[in-house]
Amino acid sequence: MFNVLVTDSISDNGLIDLYEHHDFTVDKKVGIPPEELKEIIGNYDALIVRSQTKVTQDILEHSGRLQVIARAGVGVDNIDVNSATRKGIIVINAPGANTIAAAEHTMAMMLALSRNVPQAHQLTSSGEWNRGAFQGVELYKKSIGIVGMGKIGTEVAKRCKSFEMEILGFDPYLTEERAKSLGIRKATLDEIAAESDYITLHTPLTNATRNLVDAEYIQKTKQGVRFINCARGGIIDEEALVAAIDSGHVAGAALDVFQIEPPENKGLFKHPAIIMTPHLAASTVEAQEKVAQEVSAEIIEILEAKNIRHA
Ligand code: MLT
Repeated sequence: MFNVLVTDSISDNGLIDLYEHHDFTVDKKVGIPPEELKEIIGNYDALIVRSQTKVTQDILEHSGRLQVIARAGVGVDNIDVNSATRKGIIVINAPGANTIAAAEHTMAMMLALSRNVPQAHQLTSSGEWNRGAFQGVELYKKSIGIVGMGKIGTEVAKRCKSFEMEILGFDPYLTEERAKSLGIRKATLDEIAAESDYITLHTPLTNATRNLVDAEYIQKTKQGVRFINCARGGIIDEEALVAAIDSGHVAGAALDVFQIEPPENKGLFKHPAIIMTPHLAASTVEAQEKVAQEVSAEIIEILEAKNIRHA
């Protein structure tokens, strides 16, 4: 019998293979405090998380029989992979399952930012009718710099094409041929800064991308640029962003992710030019089912295979 612990909000439909498997039991304890997780983690063979649960070295010191940690999503930045590996624990994720959800949320944020949708909704639903306060800007013929041309960046590019935007793409692995086939221009980060009306980020958070958009980079951007970050908090330096919006250099930002979640930088809250969602990019019914299905299937495969090997 294998025990699986789920500590973040994961689709029950997506976990159906685990629920129905006679060799598996599933315990859902969404949002349990780290101290409690430490106490119980050792009783489980697999742990499934999204981005909320931090699987730290301290927690892994108590890993007991744990063999697999599954991130039902793209990144594994909330898991101490080195500590897990040292303990022989396999870390898996579902890298492609929420690509469309993240790309669509990016478009939603870009449009909402451009047309002041959240601000206009707030005022209108408070009973005030003001058609003059929310003049927007169009995406049509605007230039967009996509930083990170992996799966999500590529889907964003395809959608921006349908809005007839001019697209610049940066990625160390992007070839001229690939850029041409997508109908975009391969660009450097500096070219993106100099030419883009919108800059959207689609990289993981690594030492190389932490504070990629800092005060120095923002200084190189076009007056009136708008930023979208549905990737990872920490890629944009929030202090620098707020200062650049205050100064009028940056026209606005749409943020789904934050340096600290929930966000603590109060400067972000006071700006009508900043719109925010609480790390929702992957949160669609479809994506959540897919990520849960993918990690469930992999957990079953890994644990059963290990069982056979050790039988
Ligand atoms: C991801 O990495 O796929 C997402 O950030 C996961 C999540 O929504 O928690």
